[in-house]
Amino acid sequence: MDFDAIIDRRGSGSTKWDKMEELFGVSPDDGLAMWTADSDYPTAPCVREAVQRAVDHGIFGYYSDYAPYKAAIAWWMRERHGWTVEPDWILTSQGLGNAIALCLDVWSAPGDGVVTFPPVYHEFAAKIRKTGRRVVECPLARDGESYALDLEDAQARLSGDEKVLLWCSPQNPSGRVWTADELQAVADFAARNDLILVSDEIHHDLVYAGHSFLPTDVAVPQVRDRLVVLTAASKTFNIAGQRTGNIIIPDDRLRDAMSHRLRTLDYAPSSLGVMMIQAAYSPEGADWADAQLAHLDGNRRMFDDGINAIPGLWSMPLQATYLAWVDFSATGMDHDEIARRIRDDARIAASPGPAFGAGGESFMRFNLAMPRPQIREAVTRLQAAFADIQ
Ligand SMILES: Cc1ncc(COP(=O)(O)O)c(C=O)c1O
Repeated sequence: MDFDAIIDRRGSGSTKWDKMEELFGVSPDDGLAMWTADSDYPTAPCVREAVQRAVDHGIFGYYSDYAPYKAAIAWWMRERHGWTVEPDWILTSQGLGNAIALCLDVWSAPGDGVVTFPPVYHEFAAKIRKTGRRVVECPLARDGESYALDLEDAQARLSGDEKVLLWCSPQNPSGRVWTADELQAVADFAARNDLILVSDEIHHDLVYAGHSFLPTDVAVPQVRDRLVVLTAASKTFNIAGQRTGNIIIPDDRLRDAMSHRLRTLDYAPSSLGVMMIQAAYSPEGADWADAQLAHLDGNRRMFDDGINAIPGLWSMPLQATYLAWVDFSATGMDHDEIARRIRDDARIAASPGPAFGAGGESFMRFNLAMPRPQIREAVTRLQAAFADIQ
């Protein structure tokens, strides 16, 4: 498995590469795309073979063979996460961005509050605002080399009209893997405030040695009557373009509400998405995912060593995800100057920290899911862009 071959994605319709100039002002001619969360190497051979078989068959008519696909998801959750999922708990969305919007639609109304723990995946706030709900930010507290929950502070920020809590586990952008105690505390908080707990676990496979991911449903099954879990194969297998995600709901009443909404919208999964996920969630897919994680581990070590050698820069040690969260506060520069140097001097398109909400002001997020030579190049460019700092 070669994760180091550089494949030119420019002109392939790739959001990451073909939109970087428009969105970030960095030309793809000599720029490095380190923003949106997909990977710059091909997916697992078993997934490509599944698509190839479908192409060879050549007929892409109506499809309804969902049982093996749901069995594969249940197998993956059991084998990889120790989580027993009944196949009929699994509903399908058009990816998790879509699933988040659907959850807001089903369990809240315009004007209601939706709780987030920033800095967190920027699309949480974007979707809350787009659907006319109110973002209720309950910022994480800085805790040594990472973040911690401050639920006393969070409680004081609630006004009583909140309906949903959008939770990210493992956390994007900090890479935090939450402990059983923390999951228990969040579940208690959701119960105390009568919130539907939507747990976005899309990064659950990308967890580094020394940390272990605990599915929310395994940690706190007693809150199943308010729990909705979102997972997808898209980050793990670099197949986000197929736009298929899982909404896993153990509770019958909650599941009926979502399944009714999906039926009224006439939503049905795409056959190619189903085939890719079924192929990914297999023993071959598991071997590939392990090899990828070893590659990402090497990438984050190289990136962190290079970044932490630059005075004033600090890369938060990742417990999970391929998204490096870098603090520039000790440079004393404002966000515009940091962003300018990264864009104009390093010619890197990275995600601006302020978009992740309170606490992200002095940060930038860098996607490390790329061939190692590009990580080396990014480090060299960033070292040059901040070389004047002593
Ligand atoms: C936490 C989290 N949730 C959801 C998504 C988006 O998922 P999808 O591509 O399935 O819409 C991302 C993508 O970066 C993410 O990091």
